[in-house]
Amino acid sequence: MNIPMLDLKRQYTELKSDLEPKILNCLRSGQYIMGKPVEKLEEDLAKYLHVRHAITVGNGTDAILLSLRAIGIGPGDEVITSPFTFFATAEAIAFLGATPVFADVDPVTYNLDPESTRTCITPRTKAILPVHIFGHPADMLAFKNIAKEHHLALVEDACQAIGASIGGKKAGTFGDIGCFSFFPTKNLGGFGDGGLITTDDDRYATIIRAMRTHGGGRIGAEAYSLLKGKPLPNTTTNNENPLYNPYKYYNYLIGTNSRLDTLQAIILRGKLPHLNDWNAARAKNAAFYCRNIQRKDVVLPLELKGYTHVWHQFVLRTSYKEQMGTFLADKGISTGVFYPVPLHLQKAFEYLKYQPGSLPEAEKLAKETLCLPVFPELTEDELQYITQAVDAFTA
Ligand SMILES: Cc1ncc(COP(=O)(O)O)c(C=O)c1O
Repeated sequence: MNIPMLDLKRQYTELKSDLEPKILNCLRSGQYIMGKPVEKLEEDLAKYLHVRHAITVGNGTDAILLSLRAIGIGPGDEVITSPFTFFATAEAIAFLGATPVFADVDPVTYNLDPESTRTCITPRTKAILPVHIFGHPADMLAFKNIAKEHHLALVEDACQAIGASIGGKKAGTFGDIGCFSFFPTKNLGGFGDGGLITTDDDRYATIIRAMRTHGGGRIGAEAYSLLKGKPLPNTTTNNENPLYNPYKYYNYLIGTNSRLDTLQAIILRGKLPHLNDWNAARAKNAAFYCRNIQRKDVVLPLELKGYTHVWHQFVLRTSYKEQMGTFLADKGISTGVFYPVPLHLQKAFEYLKYQPGSLPEAEKLAKETLCLPVFPELTEDELQYITQAVDAFTA
Protein backbone atom coordinates (compact mmCIF):
# COMPACT_ATOMS: atom_id res chain seq x y z
CA MET A 1 0.00 0.00 0.00
CA ASN A 2 1.20 3.53 -0.71
CA ILE A 3 -0.20 6.17 1.64
CA PRO A 4 0.85 9.80 1.30
CA MET A 5 0.89 12.28 4.20
CA LEU A 6 -1.82 14.20 2.37
CA ASP A 7 -3.63 13.49 -0.89
CA LEU A 8 -5.33 16.64 -2.18
CA LYS A 9 -6.40 14.85 -5.35
CA ARG A 10 -8.95 12.82 -3.38
CA GLN A 11 -10.61 15.98 -2.06
CA TYR A 12 -10.50 17.54 -5.52
CA THR A 13 -12.26 14.54 -7.03
CA GLU A 14 -15.12 14.99 -4.52
CA LEU A 15 -15.47 18.70 -5.26
CA LYS A 16 -14.76 18.68 -8.99
CA SER A 17 -18.33 18.87 -10.25
CA ASP A 18 -19.17 21.79 -7.95
CA LEU A 19 -15.93 23.74 -8.30
CA GLU A 20 -15.00 23.42 -11.96
CA PRO A 21 -17.99 25.39 -13.37
CA LYS A 22 -17.35 28.12 -10.75
CA ILE A 23 -13.68 28.29 -11.70
CA LEU A 24 -14.56 28.48 -15.39
CA ASN A 25 -17.05 31.29 -14.69
CA CYS A 26 -14.36 33.22 -12.92
CA LEU A 27 -11.90 32.73 -15.79
CA ARG A 28 -14.54 33.96 -18.22
CA SER A 29 -15.57 36.92 -16.05
CA GLY A 30 -12.37 38.92 -16.48
CA GLN A 31 -12.39 39.72 -12.71
CA TYR A 32 -9.30 38.16 -11.12
CA ILE A 33 -8.39 40.19 -8.05
CA MET A 34 -10.68 40.89 -5.04
CA GLY A 35 -14.27 41.81 -6.04
CA LYS A 36 -17.65 40.42 -4.87
CA PRO A 37 -16.51 36.82 -4.34
CA VAL A 38 -13.86 38.06 -1.89
CA GLU A 39 -16.45 40.18 -0.05
CA LYS A 40 -18.82 37.19 0.10
CA LEU A 41 -16.07 34.91 1.40
CA GLU A 42 -15.24 37.45 4.10
CA GLU A 43 -18.92 37.53 5.12
CA ASP A 44 -19.05 33.71 5.22
CA LEU A 45 -15.86 33.49 7.27
CA ALA A 46 -16.98 36.19 9.72
CA LYS A 47 -20.18 34.18 10.24
CA TYR A 48 -18.34 30.86 10.58
CA LEU A 49 -15.87 32.25 13.10
CA HIS A 50 -18.38 34.52 14.90
CA VAL A 51 -16.18 37.55 14.50
CA ARG A 52 -16.92 41.15 13.50
CA HIS A 53 -14.26 41.46 10.79
CA ALA A 54 -12.79 38.75 8.56
CA ILE A 55 -10.23 40.31 6.19
CA THR A 56 -8.64 38.14 3.54
CA VAL A 57 -4.97 38.67 2.64
CA GLY A 58 -2.39 37.07 0.37
CA ASN A 59 -1.18 34.33 2.75
CA GLY A 60 -0.79 33.43 6.43
CA THR A 61 2.62 35.04 6.73
CA ASP A 62 1.16 38.38 5.59
CA ALA A 63 -1.71 37.86 8.02
CA ILE A 64 0.80 37.83 10.90
CA LEU A 65 2.90 40.65 9.45
CA LEU A 66 -0.07 42.97 8.88
CA SER A 67 -1.57 42.15 12.29
CA LEU A 68 1.66 43.03 14.07
CA ARG A 69 1.99 46.20 11.99
CA ALA A 70 -1.55 47.24 12.81
CA ILE A 71 -0.70 46.90 16.49
CA GLY A 72 2.34 49.09 15.88
CA ILE A 73 5.08 46.50 16.41
CA GLY A 74 8.47 47.71 15.21
CA PRO A 75 12.16 48.10 16.11
CA GLY A 76 12.86 47.97 19.84
CA ASP A 77 9.72 45.94 20.62
CA GLU A 78 9.70 42.37 21.87
CA VAL A 79 7.03 39.83 20.96
CA ILE A 80 6.85 36.57 22.91
CA THR A 81 6.06 33.50 20.84
CA SER A 82 6.55 29.75 20.54
CA PRO A 83 9.79 28.16 19.36
CA PHE A 84 7.83 25.10 18.21
CA THR A 85 6.01 26.34 15.14
CA PHE A 86 6.49 27.06 11.45
CA PHE A 87 9.22 29.62 10.79
CA ALA A 88 6.80 32.32 9.54
CA THR A 89 5.42 33.00 13.04
CA ALA A 90 8.68 34.42 14.36
CA GLU A 91 9.93 35.55 10.95
CA ALA A 92 7.12 38.12 10.79
CA ILE A 93 8.22 39.60 14.13
CA ALA A 94 11.85 39.83 12.99
CA PHE A 95 10.89 41.16 9.55
CA LEU A 96 9.35 44.21 11.27
CA GLY A 97 12.62 44.86 13.09
CA ALA A 98 11.19 43.67 16.43
CA THR A 99 12.72 40.88 18.54
CA PRO A 100 11.10 37.46 18.78
CA VAL A 101 11.39 36.21 22.36
CA PHE A 102 10.85 32.48 22.67
CA ALA A 103 9.17 31.00 25.73
CA ASP A 104 9.06 27.23 26.21
CA VAL A 105 6.13 25.02 25.25
CA ASP A 106 3.68 22.88 27.16
CA PRO A 107 4.76 19.20 26.96
CA VAL A 108 1.15 17.97 26.63
CA THR A 109 -0.35 20.21 23.91
CA TYR A 110 2.99 21.43 22.45
CA ASN A 111 1.60 24.98 22.60
CA LEU A 112 3.26 28.06 24.06
CA ASP A 113 3.35 27.69 27.86
CA PRO A 114 1.66 30.59 29.71
CA GLU A 115 3.91 30.26 32.78
CA SER A 116 7.08 30.28 30.70
CA THR A 117 5.65 33.27 28.81
CA ARG A 118 5.29 35.22 32.07
CA THR A 119 8.99 34.79 32.80
CA CYS A 120 9.89 36.38 29.43
CA ILE A 121 8.01 39.65 29.95
CA THR A 122 10.23 42.77 30.02
CA PRO A 123 9.48 46.51 29.75
CA ARG A 124 9.98 46.10 25.97
CA THR A 125 7.37 43.36 25.55
CA LYS A 126 4.53 44.63 23.37
CA ALA A 127 2.64 41.51 22.36
CA ILE A 128 2.18 37.78 22.88
CA LEU A 129 1.78 35.58 19.82
CA PRO A 130 0.60 32.05 20.76
CA VAL A 131 0.22 29.45 18.00
CA HIS A 132 -2.54 26.81 17.97
CA ILE A 133 -0.06 24.22 16.91
CA PHE A 134 -1.22 21.18 14.92
CA GLY A 135 -4.82 22.32 15.45
CA HIS A 136 -5.04 22.11 19.27
CA PRO A 137 -5.90 25.53 20.72
CA ALA A 138 -3.40 27.17 23.05
CA ASP A 139 -4.54 28.12 26.56
CA MET A 140 -6.14 31.40 25.45
CA LEU A 141 -7.82 32.11 28.76
CA ALA A 142 -4.43 32.19 30.49
CA PHE A 143 -2.94 34.32 27.68
CA LYS A 144 -5.83 36.76 27.87
CA ASN A 145 -5.20 37.19 31.61
CA ILE A 146 -1.48 37.73 31.09
CA ALA A 147 -2.08 40.23 28.29
CA LYS A 148 -4.58 42.15 30.41
CA GLU A 149 -2.33 42.18 33.49
CA HIS A 150 0.68 43.48 31.54
CA HIS A 151 -1.16 45.66 28.96
CA LEU A 152 0.08 43.59 26.05
CA ALA A 153 -1.51 42.98 22.67
CA LEU A 154 -2.56 39.39 21.96
CA VAL A 155 -2.30 38.05 18.40
CA GLU A 156 -3.17 34.41 17.63
CA ASP A 157 -1.43 32.35 14.96
CA ALA A 158 -4.40 30.13 14.04
CA CYS A 159 -2.89 29.17 10.68
CA GLN A 160 -3.23 25.46 11.50
CA ALA A 161 -6.43 25.68 13.49
CA ILE A 162 -9.43 26.90 11.51
CA GLY A 163 -12.53 25.49 13.20
CA ALA A 164 -10.79 24.62 16.49
CA SER A 165 -12.39 26.03 19.62
CA ILE A 166 -12.34 26.38 23.40
CA GLY A 167 -15.71 26.08 25.10
CA GLY A 168 -17.35 26.55 21.69
CA LYS A 169 -15.49 29.82 20.93
CA LYS A 170 -13.33 29.59 17.84
CA ALA A 171 -9.52 29.74 17.92
CA GLY A 172 -8.39 33.00 16.35
CA THR A 173 -11.13 35.05 18.04
CA PHE A 174 -9.81 35.27 21.62
CA GLY A 175 -7.06 37.84 21.17
CA ASP A 176 -7.02 41.29 19.61
CA ILE A 177 -6.31 39.76 16.19
CA GLY A 178 -6.30 36.23 14.72
CA CYS A 179 -4.29 34.98 11.72
CA PHE A 180 -5.15 32.10 9.39
CA SER A 181 -3.55 30.49 6.34
CA PHE A 182 -5.30 28.97 3.32
CA PHE A 183 -2.14 27.28 2.04
CA PRO A 184 -3.35 24.22 0.08
CA THR A 185 -2.35 21.71 2.81
CA LYS A 186 -4.30 23.49 5.56
CA ASN A 187 -7.65 22.15 6.84
CA LEU A 188 -9.26 24.80 4.62
CA GLY A 189 -6.87 25.27 1.71
CA GLY A 190 -7.07 27.11 -1.59
CA PHE A 191 -5.57 26.14 -4.91
CA GLY A 192 -2.74 28.55 -4.19
CA ASP A 193 -1.83 30.96 -1.40
CA GLY A 194 -4.34 32.81 0.74
CA GLY A 195 -4.73 34.11 4.28
CA LEU A 196 -7.15 35.72 6.71
CA ILE A 197 -7.12 38.19 9.57
CA THR A 198 -9.92 38.29 12.13
CA THR A 199 -10.69 40.99 14.65
CA ASP A 200 -13.58 42.51 16.58
CA ASP A 201 -11.76 45.85 16.66
CA ASP A 202 -13.02 48.33 14.03
CA ARG A 203 -9.84 50.39 14.21
CA TYR A 204 -7.50 47.46 13.53
CA ALA A 205 -9.83 46.29 10.76
CA THR A 206 -9.64 49.64 8.96
CA ILE A 207 -5.85 49.82 9.26
CA ILE A 208 -5.43 46.23 8.01
CA ARG A 209 -7.85 46.70 5.10
CA ALA A 210 -5.90 49.81 4.13
CA MET A 211 -2.49 48.18 4.44
CA ARG A 212 -3.40 45.18 2.28
CA THR A 213 -3.92 47.59 -0.66
CA HIS A 214 -0.96 49.98 -0.37
CA GLY A 215 -2.66 52.26 2.14
CA GLY A 216 -4.52 53.87 -0.75
CA GLY A 217 -8.08 54.79 -1.71
CA ARG A 218 -10.95 55.64 0.58
CA ILE A 219 -9.98 52.96 3.13
CA GLY A 220 -6.42 54.34 3.20
CA ALA A 221 -7.79 57.81 3.93
CA GLU A 222 -9.94 56.38 6.74
CA ALA A 223 -6.96 54.58 8.26
CA TYR A 224 -4.90 57.76 8.02
CA SER A 225 -7.53 59.81 9.75
CA LEU A 226 -7.78 57.19 12.53
CA LEU A 227 -4.03 57.00 13.02
CA LYS A 228 -3.37 60.74 12.85
CA GLY A 229 -6.57 61.90 14.52
CA LYS A 230 -7.29 64.14 11.52
CA PRO A 231 -10.55 64.50 9.57
CA LEU A 232 -11.05 62.58 6.34
CA PRO A 233 -9.87 64.41 3.23
CA ASN A 234 -12.72 66.38 1.65
CA THR A 235 -14.77 64.23 -0.71
CA THR A 236 -16.61 67.04 -2.49
CA THR A 237 -15.41 67.73 -6.01
CA ASN A 238 -12.67 70.25 -6.12
CA ASN A 239 -13.74 72.66 -8.86
CA GLU A 240 -10.30 74.16 -9.19
CA ASN A 241 -8.87 70.77 -10.07
CA PRO A 242 -11.60 68.54 -11.52
CA LEU A 243 -9.07 65.72 -12.03
CA TYR A 244 -8.37 65.48 -8.32
CA ASN A 245 -10.03 62.50 -6.68
CA PRO A 246 -8.93 62.52 -3.05
CA TYR A 247 -8.95 58.71 -2.94
CA LYS A 248 -8.03 57.19 -6.27
CA TYR A 249 -4.26 56.81 -6.61
CA TYR A 250 -3.73 58.77 -3.42
CA ASN A 251 -1.91 56.83 -0.74
CA TYR A 252 -2.19 57.64 2.94
CA LEU A 253 0.04 55.12 4.67
CA ILE A 254 2.73 52.59 3.84
CA GLY A 255 1.16 49.22 3.21
CA THR A 256 1.77 46.40 0.79
CA ASN A 257 0.02 44.28 -1.83
CA SER A 258 -1.65 41.44 0.03
CA ARG A 259 -4.94 40.91 -1.80
CA LEU A 260 -6.72 37.60 -2.29
CA ASP A 261 -7.30 36.38 -5.85
CA THR A 262 -10.96 36.21 -6.90
CA LEU A 263 -10.39 32.62 -7.98
CA GLN A 264 -9.11 31.63 -4.52
CA ALA A 265 -12.14 33.26 -2.92
CA ILE A 266 -14.46 31.25 -5.16
CA ILE A 267 -12.62 28.02 -4.34
CA LEU A 268 -12.52 28.72 -0.60
CA ARG A 269 -16.24 29.64 -0.59
CA GLY A 270 -16.96 26.35 -2.29
CA LYS A 271 -14.91 24.47 0.30
CA LEU A 272 -16.01 26.25 3.50
CA PRO A 273 -19.36 24.39 3.83
CA HIS A 274 -17.36 21.12 4.00
CA LEU A 275 -14.89 22.28 6.65
CA ASN A 276 -16.78 20.97 9.70
CA ASP A 277 -17.19 17.54 8.07
CA TRP A 278 -13.52 17.41 7.12
CA ASN A 279 -12.46 18.41 10.64
CA ALA A 280 -14.80 15.73 12.04
CA ALA A 281 -13.26 13.13 9.70
CA ARG A 282 -9.78 14.12 10.90
CA ALA A 283 -10.96 13.74 14.52
CA LYS A 284 -12.37 10.30 13.69
CA ASN A 285 -9.06 9.24 12.14
CA ALA A 286 -7.15 10.52 15.16
CA ALA A 287 -9.52 8.63 17.48
CA PHE A 288 -8.91 5.46 15.43
CA TYR A 289 -5.16 5.72 16.00
CA CYS A 290 -5.57 6.53 19.69
CA ARG A 291 -7.90 3.54 20.18
CA ASN A 292 -5.93 1.05 18.16
CA ILE A 293 -2.20 1.78 18.46
CA GLN A 294 -1.13 -0.68 21.12
CA ARG A 295 2.55 0.03 21.69
CA LYS A 296 3.38 1.66 25.00
CA ASP A 297 6.65 3.37 24.04
CA VAL A 298 5.02 6.16 22.05
CA VAL A 299 3.16 9.18 23.42
CA LEU A 300 -0.09 9.72 21.55
CA PRO A 301 -1.59 13.19 21.16
CA LEU A 302 -4.69 14.19 23.09
CA GLU A 303 -7.47 16.74 23.19
CA LEU A 304 -7.83 18.62 26.47
CA LYS A 305 -11.29 18.65 28.03
CA GLY A 306 -13.31 21.65 26.83
CA TYR A 307 -11.11 22.06 23.75
CA THR A 308 -11.91 21.07 20.16
CA HIS A 309 -8.81 19.92 18.27
CA VAL A 310 -8.97 20.03 14.47
CA TRP A 311 -6.08 17.59 13.94
CA HIS A 312 -4.16 19.50 11.30
CA GLN A 313 -1.46 16.98 12.17
CA PHE A 314 -1.50 13.74 14.16
CA VAL A 315 1.76 13.89 16.06
CA LEU A 316 3.20 11.08 18.11
CA ARG A 317 6.32 11.19 20.23
CA THR A 318 8.93 8.49 20.12
CA SER A 319 12.61 8.30 20.93
CA TYR A 320 12.97 6.21 17.73
CA LYS A 321 11.47 8.72 15.35
CA GLU A 322 14.01 8.29 12.54
CA GLN A 323 13.98 4.50 12.65
CA MET A 324 10.19 4.41 12.85
CA GLY A 325 9.90 6.87 9.95
CA THR A 326 12.20 4.70 7.82
CA PHE A 327 10.32 1.53 8.79
CA LEU A 328 6.99 3.10 7.81
CA ALA A 329 8.45 4.50 4.56
CA ASP A 330 9.58 0.96 3.66
CA LYS A 331 5.95 -0.10 4.07
CA GLY A 332 4.81 2.70 1.72
CA ILE A 333 3.59 5.02 4.50
CA SER A 334 4.66 8.66 4.34
CA THR A 335 5.27 10.48 7.61
CA GLY A 336 6.17 14.06 8.42
CA VAL A 337 8.56 15.66 10.88
CA PHE A 338 7.15 18.91 12.24
CA TYR A 339 9.45 20.50 13.35
CA PRO A 340 13.01 19.18 13.26
CA VAL A 341 14.65 22.41 14.51
CA PRO A 342 13.04 24.61 17.18
CA LEU A 343 13.07 28.23 16.03
CA HIS A 344 15.46 29.51 18.72
CA LEU A 345 18.13 27.18 17.27
CA GLN A 346 17.52 28.05 13.60
CA LYS A 347 20.53 29.57 11.82
CA ALA A 348 18.37 32.54 10.80
CA PHE A 349 17.94 33.39 14.50
CA GLU A 350 21.54 32.82 15.61
CA TYR A 351 21.81 36.58 16.25
CA LEU A 352 19.40 36.10 19.16
CA LYS A 353 22.11 33.97 20.83
CA TYR A 354 19.96 31.15 22.23
CA GLN A 355 21.94 28.03 23.16
CA PRO A 356 20.90 24.35 23.07
CA GLY A 357 19.30 23.59 26.42
CA SER A 358 17.65 27.02 26.77
CA LEU A 359 14.13 25.75 25.91
CA PRO A 360 14.21 22.06 26.88
CA GLU A 361 10.60 21.09 26.14
CA ALA A 362 10.72 22.48 22.60
CA GLU A 363 14.08 20.85 21.99
CA LYS A 364 12.82 17.46 23.19
CA LEU A 365 9.80 17.74 20.90
CA ALA A 366 11.99 18.56 17.91
CA LYS A 367 13.86 15.30 18.54
CA GLU A 368 10.80 13.12 19.10
CA THR A 369 7.83 14.14 16.97
CA LEU A 370 6.66 12.08 14.03
CA CYS A 371 3.41 12.79 12.16
CA LEU A 372 1.13 10.13 10.69
CA PRO A 373 -1.28 10.80 7.80
CA VAL A 374 -4.60 12.05 9.22
CA PHE A 375 -6.27 13.73 6.22
CA PRO A 376 -10.06 13.37 6.04
CA GLU A 377 -10.24 11.05 3.02
CA LEU A 378 -8.08 8.25 4.53
CA THR A 379 -9.87 4.91 4.29
CA GLU A 380 -10.41 2.49 7.16
CA ASP A 381 -8.09 0.01 5.41
CA GLU A 382 -5.37 2.62 5.26
CA LEU A 383 -5.84 3.56 8.93
CA GLN A 384 -5.68 -0.11 9.87
CA TYR A 385 -2.57 -0.65 7.75
CA ILE A 386 -0.79 2.34 9.32
CA THR A 387 -1.79 1.32 12.84
CA GLN A 388 -0.53 -2.24 12.34
CA ALA A 389 2.74 -0.95 10.87
CA VAL A 390 3.32 1.37 13.87
CA ASP A 391 2.77 -1.58 16.20
CA ALA A 392 4.97 -3.89 14.10
CA PHE A 393 8.01 -1.60 14.33
CA THR A 394 10.78 -2.89 16.56
CA ALA A 395 13.42 -0.51 17.81
C1 LIG B 1 1.76 27.97 12.30
C2 LIG B 1 1.89 28.66 10.97
N1 LIG B 1 2.10 29.98 10.93
C3 LIG B 1 2.20 30.64 9.77
C4 LIG B 1 2.10 29.99 8.56
C5 LIG B 1 2.28 30.76 7.31
O1 LIG B 1 1.22 30.65 6.43
P1 LIG B 1 1.45 30.80 4.83
O2 LIG B 1 2.23 29.60 4.38
O3 LIG B 1 0.07 30.85 4.29
O4 LIG B 1 2.19 32.08 4.63
C6 LIG B 1 1.87 28.61 8.55
C7 LIG B 1 1.66 27.84 7.30
O5 LIG B 1 2.44 27.45 6.55
C8 LIG B 1 1.79 27.93 9.79
O6 LIG B 1 1.61 26.59 9.82
